[in-house]
Amino acid sequence: MEILGIDIGGSGIKGAPVETQTGDFTRDRMRVETPEPAKPGPVAKSVAEIVHHFDWDGPVGVTFPGVVIDGVTRTAANLTDKWVGLQARDLLAEECGVPVTLLNDADAAGVAEMTYGAGRGREGTVLVVTLGTGVGSALFTDGRLMPNTELGHIEIRGKDGEKRASAFAREKHEWSWEKWAGKLDEYLRRVEDLVWPSLIIVGGGVSRHAEHFLPHLKEVRAEVVAAELHNAAGIVGAAMAAAPRTRTG
Ligand code: BGC
Repeated sequence: MEILGIDIGGSGIKGAPVETQTGDFTRDRMRVETPEPAKPGPVAKSVAEIVHHFDWDGPVGVTFPGVVIDGVTRTAANLTDKWVGLQARDLLAEECGVPVTLLNDADAAGVAEMTYGAGRGREGTVLVVTLGTGVGSALFTDGRLMPNTELGHIEIRGKDGEKRASAFAREKHEWSWEKWAGKLDEYLRRVEDLVWPSLIIVGGGVSRHAEHFLPHLKEVRAEVVAAELHNAAGIVGAAMAAAPRTRTG
């Protein structure tokens, strides 16, 4: 079934129609800049721009970089506080004129990776972490998602974990791959102490450059692999969440 998936990120909002049986885009992806400040009204308009670009009138899956419970956005670490406590799903559905399914971005990316990427067929506890503007997490046990785990925000050395482990932090501080890998290593080890996954899948755009940092991870005990869907994972997972009978937790 073809569903439009849209991924709201800290710097860009990206969307493409996805064949949910295969995880493939059926048309070229469209990207618009995330409005600044990223308030609900302007962001909803950008999402609608993508819906109209594809002339879409069916269901749409949308990801959000924060906790989402029953369509209500509960946190928004890298957008604005205006999202906190908002029934964002209904706002988006109204602005776009189509039914919207809304879920956390890392959860969406995780579902896509578990179905079409590096987590295919993996049982036991699998953790997907997405490294971008923030750090997202999606935790699976025997393929089933526990949503909104928010492990990007565990405290490391008195700081929010994502301030050290995100791809954005590496760019902002101009850390070398090796230096950043050391921080990522410490972060993953701490998360591992909490949930003991047998596999950690590292996602986000930076997973395209996995050869620069995965070899420097020395402390993590679990198997660590790069995601296979990279930046497409959020869009694919969003579409899967909006497809009838897809299990997203
Ligand atoms: C948010 C998460 C999100 C992650 C990646 C974090 O700051 O709290 O909900 O999944 O960034 O965007």
